[in-house]
Amino acid sequence: MKKILIPVDFSEPSSRAVAYGKKMALAFDGKVTLLHVVHDKMMYNDSGGLTAASRAPTVTYLGEMLEKDRADAMEMMEKYKEVFQGTGVEVECIVVEGSPADKIVDYVEENLMDMVIIGSEGIGSALRRVFLGSVANRVLHHVKVPVLLVQ
Ligand SMILES: Nc1ncnc2c1ncn2[C@@H]1O[C@H](COP(=O)(O)OP(=O)(O)OP(=O)(O)O)[C@@H](O)[C@H]1O
Ligand SMILES: [Mg+2]
Repeated sequence: MKKILIPVDFSEPSSRAVAYGKKMALAFDGKVTLLHVVHDKMMYNDSGGLTAASRAPTVTYLGEMLEKDRADAMEMMEKYKEVFQGTGVEVECIVVEGSPADKIVDYVEENLMDMVIIGSEGIGSALRRVFLGSVANRVLHHVKVPVLLVQ
């Protein structure tokens, strides 16, 4: 059984990656993992406060935002899970926090995934034309397993 990782940011291309992932899972007798990384970049931003005490409310607020993002992501992934209904394909949904490309690459290595199916673009492309998003680009260059880019 092949372990297929589909990183999702809920953009159109990532939805297409999920749809293609279904075909691949059926063809390869695959088990699918949907992974969303909640970007925690803002946690490191300086909130402007001079003392630890004055920064605390901002950090708490950002912590709540991360929790909200995590909950929203889980809900949206349940929708993606429906794509596989009736196929017999095993699907698990995972949400982690951190830098998206790094976390995706770590996940592939730590869990010995056999294949990655990823959108060539994501939510960032709505405002400008790119051929390959930065997350897709970094994943492509850093994992040692086959990567399928879905346009
Ligand atoms: N936070 C994330 N968690 C999981 N997968 C992601 C995440 N961000 C992007 N991806 C995956 O990478 C694909 C390409 O998105 P990417 O972020 O590289 O492009 P972009 O958003 O258009 O550009 P950029 O992020 O560089 O502004 C998405 O379709 C999705 O499959
Ligand atoms: Mg992006």
